[in-house]
Amino acid sequence: MNLGLQGKVALVTASSRGLGKAIAMELAREGSRVAICSRSRDRVEETAAAIRRRTNAEILALTGDVSQGDDISRIVEQTITQWGRIDILVCNAGGPPSGPFESFDDVAWMRAFETNLLSVVRLVRAALPHMDRGGRILTIASSSVKQPIPGLILSNTMRAGVNGLMKTLAEELAPRGILVNTICPGRIATGRLQELDQAAAEREGISPDAVQDRVVRQIPLGRYGEPEEFARVAAFLASDANSYVTGATLLVDGGMVKAL
Ligand SMILES: NC(=O)c1ccc[n+]([C@@H]2O[C@H](COP(=O)([O-])OP(=O)(O)OC[C@H]3O[C@@H](n4cnc5c(N)ncnc54)[C@H](OP(=O)(O)O)[C@@H]3O)[C@@H](O)[C@H]2O)c1
Repeated sequence: MNLGLQGKVALVTASSRGLGKAIAMELAREGSRVAICSRSRDRVEETAAAIRRRTNAEILALTGDVSQGDDISRIVEQTITQWGRIDILVCNAGGPPSGPFESFDDVAWMRAFETNLLSVVRLVRAALPHMDRGGRILTIASSSVKQPIPGLILSNTMRAGVNGLMKTLAEELAPRGILVNTICPGRIATGRLQELDQAAAEREGISPDAVQDRVVRQIPLGRYGEPEEFARVAAFLASDANSYVTGATLLVDGGMVKAL
């Protein structure tokens, strides 16, 4: 299948590691020009160099914190200065901390809101004027939009908001030929997942391996997913080959979520 990603301009946020990096790599492999960003200049430049080496694609390395409105405006402006338009916007951010309801004060809730929900609003608002017919917007959420995850109340709450936002945007932007989808990782082997397993292990006084064994037993495919497997789904949704999927909330979870 020809995905039609050759020559597209993509902005993938929070992409020096993990799922964002894997998506940037996949889009670059398919011939897109990709702007990547993260808070650490060293990490984002290292990742840009690695993607260039593997794909020969044009990669723009940007530094910024997506929880900050000014940083988002600057990241979008720098992408436009470089390439003049945005065809594909992939909204991603680091996940909020785990913990029970009573462990979070207003500051923690506001931080999660700014990082995981308001960032999507701001990114779409900044990028939209530079997106034409054929544009694609994707947000990385979580399987928790279908089945909340114990101990992740901040994430569970913000992802639900993102899901509502994206579904509404899909309808509003359809007449402009822009497709909008939410892609939801179940358990994909990244640094974030290691941190979550470690936190669960500490809470329960067991080893991270024991946590992983227990989780894997709930995944019909019997393993954590690889970032590349997630990225291939994202690349399809972001591509011209996807011409009729919009407003979808797609799980990439090896069958983990049991809801219909
Ligand atoms: N992996 C999974 O199975 C899974 C499951 C459910 C949901 N998710 C969600 O999917 C998203 C990506 O997860 P991941 O597993 O890829 O995480 P990860 O391995 O921890 O990578 C996070 C990436 O985001 C960047 N980042 C973090 N906060 C940022 C910010 N405020 N502004 C800009 N960049 C930022 C990090 O770079 P810097 O540190 O350099 O900024 C890094 O490149 C997260 O929201 C996570 O909660 C993941």
